[in-house]
Amino acid sequence: MTVAELPVGERKARAVEEMFDRIAPRYELVNRVMTLGLDAGWRRRAVRELHLKSGANVVDLGCGTGDLCRVLGRAGLRAIGVDMAAGMLARAHTSAPLVRADALQLPLGDGSVDGAISGFALRNVVDIAACFREAARVIRPGGRAVFLEVSEPPNPIVRRVHALYFRRIVPMVGGLLSDRRAYAYLPASTAYLPSPDDLIHLLTDAGFTRCRRVQLGMGAAQVLIGIRG
Ligand SMILES: C[S@@+](CC[C@H](N)C(=O)[O-])C[C@H]1O[C@@H](n2cnc3c(N)ncnc32)[C@H](O)[C@@H]1O
Repeated sequence: MTVAELPVGERKARAVEEMFDRIAPRYELVNRVMTLGLDAGWRRRAVRELHLKSGANVVDLGCGTGDLCRVLGRAGLRAIGVDMAAGMLARAHTSAPLVRADALQLPLGDGSVDGAISGFALRNVVDIAACFREAARVIRPGGRAVFLEVSEPPNPIVRRVHALYFRRIVPMVGGLLSDRRAYAYLPASTAYLPSPDDLIHLLTDAGFTRCRRVQLGMGAAQVLIGIRG
């Protein structure tokens, strides 16, 4: 799939929802295989970066089958999962309350949560700036936001190996275990992600302060962190 073929706007929203509904049954299995199990450690790191006290409530944007909700729960945080794909929510293994909703229009009041987090959902939303603004709206002043996403390793050699793996092996493995088209889309969808500097600017413009970015897995993943001003 080329960048030009990637859908935008409402077409993207519908395509993403249908795709996740379709791959939901084997989503977690493919994730573990595809990231060689590294994704679990990345999720734990993202939750640690929230730096919120036990009992704090955190909305998980694009919670999917609830992987991050479970990590939040183990850290003593009270998760609320939000996802627009009914198929993903139906497969969720978490005791957290789950809501089918758009992360760009959360059914939550202003300043009603202590934090927001998302795992690999950012590049799937139609408008990343709007997603940051909506997170800022629902987080109380002083609360925290953490966005975990894939990224491109900065080292040229690591980047080459990573590109080969992500663009050739992942669709092949995804095809064997689940749906080849979906797992060709997932690497291609990194094209939706703005540059690291632009992501930090968008987060700042949305109302977050002390925004920073941490690279994980030699730059194959990133977490964006901000404090609600
Ligand atoms: C790659 S999955 C990640 C699932 C989970 N966060 C994880 O870490 O495994 C992306 C999820 O984001 C959801 N999603 C994409 N756009 C969304 C939106 N605008 N509102 C709510 N959920 C959305 C998809 O339905 C999908 O379940």
